[in-house]
Amino acid sequence: MPHSPTPAPAPADVLWWQRGIVYQIYPLSFHDSNGDGKGDLDGIRQRLDYLAWLGVDAVWISPVYPSPMKDFGYDISDYCSIAQTFGTLEDFDRLLKEVHTRGMKLILDFVPNHTSDQHAWFLESRSSRSNPKRDWYLWRDASPNGGPPSNWLSQFGGSAWDYDAATGQYYYHAFLKEQPDLNWRNRQVREAMYDTLEFWLERGVDGFRMDVLWHLIKDDQFRDNPSNPGFQPGDSEHRRLLELYTTDRPEVHEVVAEMRELFESYEERLIIGEIYLPVERLVAYYGLERPGVHLPFNFQLIHAPWNACEIDRMIREYDERVPEEEWPNWVLGNHDQHRIATRVGEAQARVAAMMLLTLRGTPTLYYGDEIGMHDVAIPPERIQDPYEKNQPGLGLGRDPQRTPMQWDGGLHAGFSTSEPWLPLADDFYRRNVKALAEDAHSILTLYQRLIELRRRHGALSIGDYAQIMCQGQVLAFERFDATERLLVALNLSHEKVALPLAGGTLLLSTHLDRAGERIDGRCELRADEGVILELGGP
Ligand code: GLC
Repeated sequence: MPHSPTPAPAPADVLWWQRGIVYQIYPLSFHDSNGDGKGDLDGIRQRLDYLAWLGVDAVWISPVYPSPMKDFGYDISDYCSIAQTFGTLEDFDRLLKEVHTRGMKLILDFVPNHTSDQHAWFLESRSSRSNPKRDWYLWRDASPNGGPPSNWLSQFGGSAWDYDAATGQYYYHAFLKEQPDLNWRNRQVREAMYDTLEFWLERGVDGFRMDVLWHLIKDDQFRDNPSNPGFQPGDSEHRRLLELYTTDRPEVHEVVAEMRELFESYEERLIIGEIYLPVERLVAYYGLERPGVHLPFNFQLIHAPWNACEIDRMIREYDERVPEEEWPNWVLGNHDQHRIATRVGEAQARVAAMMLLTLRGTPTLYYGDEIGMHDVAIPPERIQDPYEKNQPGLGLGRDPQRTPMQWDGGLHAGFSTSEPWLPLADDFYRRNVKALAEDAHSILTLYQRLIELRRRHGALSIGDYAQIMCQGQVLAFERFDATERLLVALNLSHEKVALPLAGGTLLLSTHLDRAGERIDGRCELRADEGVILELGGP
């Protein structure tokens, strides 16, 4: 049964982030302008023409604030400044200005759940039990029989409680012990954090991606988490427990609503929430009684098995659950997940690109996916990520998907003039921006064409969606508006297939040929091919 379409907004009411495409930059790995082997803000600025050519609308930069870098910037020691390794506030302002000059938007990363243990607030908080900032973090006495106050586990392994001998209490950290969790039940914490958001909003930042938003509030009774019957050997240790009392607490929506209210006093600023939850709980972050985030990141394509009918089911479920007045979004990859080219292979990475850029909702691209970058094996002596260091051998490390951008086939792939902080992929001499931009059949050319097509056709960027079919490994859906109907047909298999189709004209194939081909009654798809057709015509 075809799925009933969701009404599209009137084009005049569409906001930039609904029509637009977000591109995530992992700043340590994008471009190094000062030859220290690490990417920086000026490096990003120097590559803005590339992003404009690619056609993306907004750039989201992972954290660039001062940080001891225990979790590579997600441990912030000052929310209102720039880390020396990335540059200065002046560099930031220049970058922002140049992003805006090109008609693009800049989105920063905000890490509200935890600070670095070197943040002045935590240093004060841990200095004594009577310090006025003691309650800014989650301090608890040992449990009655000694040991941590509850069974809560850290995402990065071991107990989430760390004992502070000087003051005789434990503090909670959902991630590293160097990342103590803030106490968002404390009003002063909220106000101090809202002030930091305002600091950047006043500077002209267009939005924030908010880190681990569903973690903000913990159970006020600190009850033990129940064990997880689905735990498998080889899973990260924290999966032994269901995070019932440590995440997705009802009170988190109140905080999110306050943040949204703050954003509403500025024009068209965006909040994206990083939330890993099943779709029925995820959509609650659009807001319950009060508005929530604009876009709760939808990570389903990251976890879905690469199966046409499963993906079709997931798209329809999501489409049904996103509230009618809210806007959907799709993500293929990020700095915490194995790269799409590694997950589905080089040929299917093109089909995935077509899927991402034709589904209804704002797409987020991860840097390097547009050139088909894959995970890079990291030799043991070069491992950086604490997730790997703390639980070695489980394949949890995120360094493989954070390797330097491959700009050209020259020294260090044009990323830096010295040895990069993480190793380069060994195929960079052929898989790089320069070479692929000149190749009419490359994945980069495909990305650029897809983006161009999405911009040109309102049916793709802001139009309706209707399910057409899933059969075997073929998935087909329609995107349409008052003026046109486009059909997207994706072959998720390595075998050729044929599907029945009313007449249409082929606009784009993942193989970058066949444009203009007339389809009548039957459409052949080659192995690993996706096509976009304009329906109707003679
Ligand atoms: C988010 C970030 C991840 C980080 C974690 C802790 O999930 O994306 O990189 O390690 O939060 O801040």
